[in-house]
Amino acid sequence: MSDTGKDNKVEIQEGDPNTTGHEWDGITEFDNPMPRWWLLVFYATIVWAVGYTIAYPAWPMVSEATSGMLGWSSRAKVEAEIAAVETANAPINAELEALELAAIPGHPELEGYAVSAGSAVFKTWCAQCHGSGAAGAKGYPNLLDDDWLWGGTMEDIHTTVSYGIRNEESDDARYSAMPAFGRDELLEKEQVSQVVNYVMSLSGTPDDASEVQAGAVVFEENCTACHGEDASGDIYQGAPNLKDAIWLYGGDYDTLYETVWNSRFGVMPNWDTRLSEAEIRAVSAYVHQLGGGE
Ligand code: HEC
Ligand code: HEC
Repeated sequence: MSDTGKDNKVEIQEGDPNTTGHEWDGITEFDNPMPRWWLLVFYATIVWAVGYTIAYPAWPMVSEATSGMLGWSSRAKVEAEIAAVETANAPINAELEALELAAIPGHPELEGYAVSAGSAVFKTWCAQCHGSGAAGAKGYPNLLDDDWLWGGTMEDIHTTVSYGIRNEESDDARYSAMPAFGRDELLEKEQVSQVVNYVMSLSGTPDDASEVQAGAVVFEENCTACHGEDASGDIYQGAPNLKDAIWLYGGDYDTLYETVWNSRFGVMPNWDTRLSEAEIRAVSAYVHQLGGGE
C-alpha cells in the first residue's frame, strides 16, 4: 500500500472505446452506449406508461384519481360480475318465489339451490347473532334443535325472518312481552323464588324443594296464560317451553330469577327490507333443514 494509484493506472489500449472525458483520481470512464435494442424497449415502456395512465385510472387528484379515458373501474367490474350472476340466477329465483313455501323442502330441483344460497345468506347476515353453525348463544336461539319459540314450519320461519321479532322497524314484527314480575311489583321476592324453584323442578332439580309446591300456585296464577297449563310454551306468543331443559337465557337459579324479576325482550331485525324474497325463502329453507324444521 506504499504507492498511490498512479502505478495501477490502466493504459488505454488500441481498440478501446473512447472515454467520456470524466476522470477521478486517474480513473477514466469508457463511453459504452446502451445497446440499441435495450434503448428501444426502454422508450417503448415510457410511451406505454403514458398511454396507460391516460386510458386507465392513475393520477391521484385531490378527492379521487383520474378516471381514465376507457371508463374502467374495479367497482364497475364487480358490479358487472354480480349482475351476470343475478341474471343467470333470475329464472331459478323466480321459480323459488313462485313456489308454495311448504313445497320447497324436498323439491327435487329447488331444495338444493335454496339450501346452498340460504347457507351463504346465513353466513353473511345471521351468523353474528345465531353463530356460524346456527347453535345460538345466550339470548339467541339455537336453530339446530326442534325447540321453537315462534314455530318451525316453513311459513313460521319465513314470517319470523321477514318481519323479525320485537323490532321497531316492521309493523308486522312478531311481538309479545313477558311482564317484569319483580321490577313491576307484581310478585314478592319470595314468590319469585318459589316460582323459579317450580320452573326448575319441571326440568330437573329445584334449588330448594320446599318452595316447589307454593311455586306451582304462583305459576298457575301468573304464567299459564303464556307458557301454558303444562308449561310447554306457546308459539303464538313466542313463549318458550319451560320443561324441556332447553334454555334461551339459562336454567340456573340466578338466571331464572333475573328472567322472572326483570323479564326479557329478545329483538331480531326484520329482513324484508334488506333481502330479496328469494333470499328470505332460501335462508328459511336453510334454517328449516338444519334439523329442527317441522
Ligand atoms: C341482531 C341479532 C340477530 C340477527 C342478525 C338475526 N337474528 Fe334471528 N333471532 C334473534 C333473536 C334475539 C331471536 C329470539 C327472539 C325472541 O326471544 O323471541 C331470534 C330468533 C330467530 C328465529 C326464531 C327461532 C324460534 O325458535 O322460533 C329464527 C328462525 C331466526 N331468528 C332466524 C334468523 C335468520 C334466518 C337470520 C338472518 C337472516 C337472523 N335470524 C338474524 C336475533 C338475531
Ligand atoms: C305475557 C306472556 C308471558 C307471561 C304472563 C309469562 N311469560 Fe315467561 N316468557 C314470555 C316470553 C314471550 C318469553 C321469551 C322472552 C324473550 O325471548 O325475550 C318468556 C320467557 C321466559 C323464561 C325464559 C326461558 C328460557 O328459555 O330462558 C322463563 C324462565 C319464563 N318466561 C318464566 C315465566 C314465569 C315463571 C312466569 C310467571 C311468573 C312467566 N314466565 C310469565 C311470556 C310470558
